[in-house]
Amino acid sequence: MRATALIVAAGTGERLGAGVAKAFAVLAGEPLLFHAARAFAGSESVTDVAVVLPGHAGGTLRDDVARLLRRAGVAEPILCPGGATRQESVSRGLEHCGAGVELVAVHDAARPLVSPRLIDRTVAALVPPWDAVAPGLPVAETVKVVDPTRQAVLRTIDRQGLWTVQTPQVFRRVTLARVHARIATSADAATDDLSLVERAGGRVRLIEGERRNLKVTFPGDLELAEALLRGGG
Ligand code: CTP
Ligand code: MG
Repeated sequence: MRATALIVAAGTGERLGAGVAKAFAVLAGEPLLFHAARAFAGSESVTDVAVVLPGHAGGTLRDDVARLLRRAGVAEPILCPGGATRQESVSRGLEHCGAGVELVAVHDAARPLVSPRLIDRTVAALVPPWDAVAPGLPVAETVKVVDPTRQAVLRTIDRQGLWTVQTPQVFRRVTLARVHARIATSADAATDDLSLVERAGGRVRLIEGERRNLKVTFPGDLELAEALLRGGG
């Protein structure tokens, strides 16, 4: 089945502190958004790419982004403004993906090293009885709960069965629109879209992700991504 990619790029990137919205921080000479968009352009299962931009993005920035995306191989990018939270940005992006769209692959621009193969594997995994699929990885390190003020360890969590989750996260458009419509207050907020489907009682599955599909969050992550790009092409 064919999917529309919904790349959320409207965050400010506080933790990265690059001085620009994170999607426009530079990795190996190109913005993170360029790298992510190029992977979707190179995938076989994705036909259209929509990008959610910072809300204040004016006409000039939009034109620049459209050019950047064409250079990345996206012939006709769909652009729309995001919201104050990631979840709002996904909602706004969804409204811009036409009703004719069957599958949506939501991806963080903050994951520039996603590969076309991982995208295609994830889209292909959305088969009955699953309502949502994403790549993930079993936790390799010991996980502890820490009190945020004193950093005192409160307890250790058994990592057996714990996975971290990546993007792209793939859904039927109607499923994703339905769970987003259920969000009533900020207390319903979630940091990913799978959680919304889980809460609604949907069947959610993780497939084996890729270690190199890391999320650029903190300053050192850019160097790590750059080293991976150099080493692995
Ligand atoms: N995002 C978005 N709209 C927001 C917040 C986040 O589109 N209002 C996007 C970001 O652009 C990013 C993805 O969601 O691609 C994951 O969010 P995160 O890594 O938290 O990015 P930021 O919110 O930009 O970073 P920070 O939390 O450090 O400010
Ligand atoms: Mg954030």
